[in-house]
Amino acid sequence: MGSRRCFRCFLYLFLFIFLLILIIGYRVLSVDDRTEYEAPKIEYSEEERQQILKKEITAPIILWWTPFTGEPGRYRTCGTAQCFFTVNRLYKDHPKTKVFLFYGTEMRVNDLPLPRSPHEEWGLLHEESPKNNFLFSHREMMLVFNHTCTFRRESDYPITTQYLESLEWLESTKYMVTTSKKNEYQSELAPIIYTHSDCDVPSDRDNLVRRIMEYMKVDSYGQCVHNKDLPKHLVDPIEGMEHEEFYQLNAKYKFSFSFENAICNDYITEKLWRPLMLGSVPVVMGSPRVRDFLPDNHSAIIVDDFKSVEELVNNLKFLNENDEEYEKYLQWKRTGITNKVLSDIMKNRDFGIKDTWKSGQQNFIEGFECFVCKRIHENIQKSENEEETLHFQADENHYGCPAPQKFDKFGNKVPHTYWHYEWYQKLHQAKTMKYFVDNSLPYSQEKFQEKIKEFQTDANFF
Ligand SMILES: *[C@@H]1O[C@H](CO)[C@@H](O)[C@H](O)[C@H]1NC(C)=O
Ligand SMILES: *[C@@H]1O[C@H](CO)[C@@H](O)[C@H](O)[C@H]1NC(C)=O
Repeated sequence: MGSRRCFRCFLYLFLFIFLLILIIGYRVLSVDDRTEYEAPKIEYSEEERQQILKKEITAPIILWWTPFTGEPGRYRTCGTAQCFFTVNRLYKDHPKTKVFLFYGTEMRVNDLPLPRSPHEEWGLLHEESPKNNFLFSHREMMLVFNHTCTFRRESDYPITTQYLESLEWLESTKYMVTTSKKNEYQSELAPIIYTHSDCDVPSDRDNLVRRIMEYMKVDSYGQCVHNKDLPKHLVDPIEGMEHEEFYQLNAKYKFSFSFENAICNDYITEKLWRPLMLGSVPVVMGSPRVRDFLPDNHSAIIVDDFKSVEELVNNLKFLNENDEEYEKYLQWKRTGITNKVLSDIMKNRDFGIKDTWKSGQQNFIEGFECFVCKRIHENIQKSENEEETLHFQADENHYGCPAPQKFDKFGNKVPHTYWHYEWYQKLHQAKTMKYFVDNSLPYSQEKFQEKIKEFQTDANFF
């Protein structure tokens, strides 16, 4: 009997080790797979290239290296400054080319204008979540940029309010449901609504929802932790969320989970603004500094203020049962926005979104283009006057986001294995890329692979 059992345990041990090798092997192999994507090939003749290089351009050239805007080539005037904007890569070596702009989502470490010469400035526009591309979470990556436009307030052209139409929109009481009505609705509806359809994300929000659901009812209409169906015409995650009837439904709930897909300073989306507008108190997991952007200091419940899930739940239950205390969170809807930081940002914002576009107003892409154009002209002016020119240098404060975390079964945050791995992948890419930039090296697949391996060995992933 004894030896038989031992045979079994050897078999299990063998199987376990075999599986482990398979998993690790797969991961290591896919490390290489992911860095070996092909750079897009651009077809042109040498004649075409020469023609472009000789073309007389009377303003500094700003080249979108990622073909984000689709602009073949056009002068734009920004106040007293003028620049030539294009996505045509044939301008790369044109004597007037001054800035390369990159759209974060499309930026690839193996497709860059390398070698980089010292007079070339690089700019980053990235309004997206860290989940979209972890490259910019890393200091090494951010250090290669001179100009930035991101959600971080420290970026050069910050767009933290990119999802907020206007202060008037936020203050609207059009959809508001009275507390007594909300109480009545609770015979059919839960006190809390959750509507997310992008599941298993770096912030691990679904796990938090599940933890809370152990103590309190939550209606989850999205695909994540789904437990309630929306009417058919509201199911589309993009269209549906902006639908009049969806607004009316959401407004019936006392609380809305406003959980971002990744945690980063100043990463704030419509997930916060929408419930605020509707008069459903947001329960926020997102930017650690979200307070700075709230309408007033008593307008949202912030998950991080609580030591445990139980404590958070107790607070939600208390507010659900005490109308007077609950209504304090909606006081601002009557008295208006008192957060001066928020109102100043909205008043001074020189870009518009959506329906509140005033005539002649630009979007933030055009806004950033002009911002960079003006900066370059400032330095041109300074050189002409023989003054010292300005130095433009980004750093991790212009984006830089922490490594993803997960909730364990006690509700504590622990490293998030899968996303952590992605995050480290990008760290190695960022370090390698910076090495290429700093040493003015041209890109080569072999050299890149060689270098990235050096960084991978000091990985603290496994
Ligand atoms: C919130 O703001 C109000 C009005 O501006 C102020 O009286 C109150 O002390 C503030 N509360 C906290 C906790 O900061
Ligand atoms: C742009 O950034 C690079 C890399 O940090 C730096 O070497 C260069 O001096 C910067 N250019 C300007 C105009 O500040």
